[in-house]
Amino acid sequence: MKTSYERLRRTIGKLAYERRYNVRTAELIELDELGIAGAGRGYYVAASWRTLRRTLSRKEITPKDVFVDFGSGMGRMVLEAARFDFGRVVGVELSGQLHEIAQDNVRRTRQRLRCRDIELLQTDVLAYEMPDDISVVFFNNPFQGPVFETVIDRLVATIDRNPRQIKIIYYNPVEERTILGTGRAELVRELVHARRRTAGSPFGLTKVFALS
Ligand SMILES: C[S@@+](CC[C@H](N)C(=O)[O-])C[C@H]1O[C@@H](n2cnc3c(N)ncnc32)[C@H](O)[C@@H]1O
Repeated sequence: MKTSYERLRRTIGKLAYERRYNVRTAELIELDELGIAGAGRGYYVAASWRTLRRTLSRKEITPKDVFVDFGSGMGRMVLEAARFDFGRVVGVELSGQLHEIAQDNVRRTRQRLRCRDIELLQTDVLAYEMPDDISVVFFNNPFQGPVFETVIDRLVATIDRNPRQIKIIYYNPVEERTILGTGRAELVRELVHARRRTAGSPFGLTKVFALS
């Protein structure tokens, strides 16, 4: 009884967010339905609203900061990030269909966002030229294996070109070993975002790393 009540309460909570922002982000879509299934790629499902509010403090973000969501889907985390004082917020998404929905979501909300410099790019992350001013990155388990390794290597290369610290917020961190394996990262925070999670599984966790 309590479980169904909690489920109902969470569903109402999610719908309230969608209605408040007047956006569409809450769906589960397998990537073969979008025609982009491939090795190391999973599915589309948005991270929970409030993930960034739980992992970033308003004080730490200034207009010098740049946020990138790798595999930004319908743009939920792009919208959340743009409510902070970031100088630029970027979403990189492979699927043309999800990219168009994200563009529509940003168009509907832009006036209510703090950061107006929002860039949505429809591209494979491997074709994305990594800028040297990124300071916060977000992954919601978008890809695994060699693709994830390449992205992490490229982030390290941007730090070598322009020394600084990058904060990595990793929702469902199935490839955390790749981050720690660089020898350049430390785990700074871990939080549970799913009440019913299997012990030992990365699903249901968000981990925050500092890469330098
Ligand atoms: C689990 S969804 C996360 C969506 C979004 N970050 C959020 O939390 O709301 C993962 C996304 O990564 C995208 N993706 C998978 N492989 C990709 C690639 N190689 N380049 C860019 N995006 C990719 C998928 O299309 C999907 O939208």
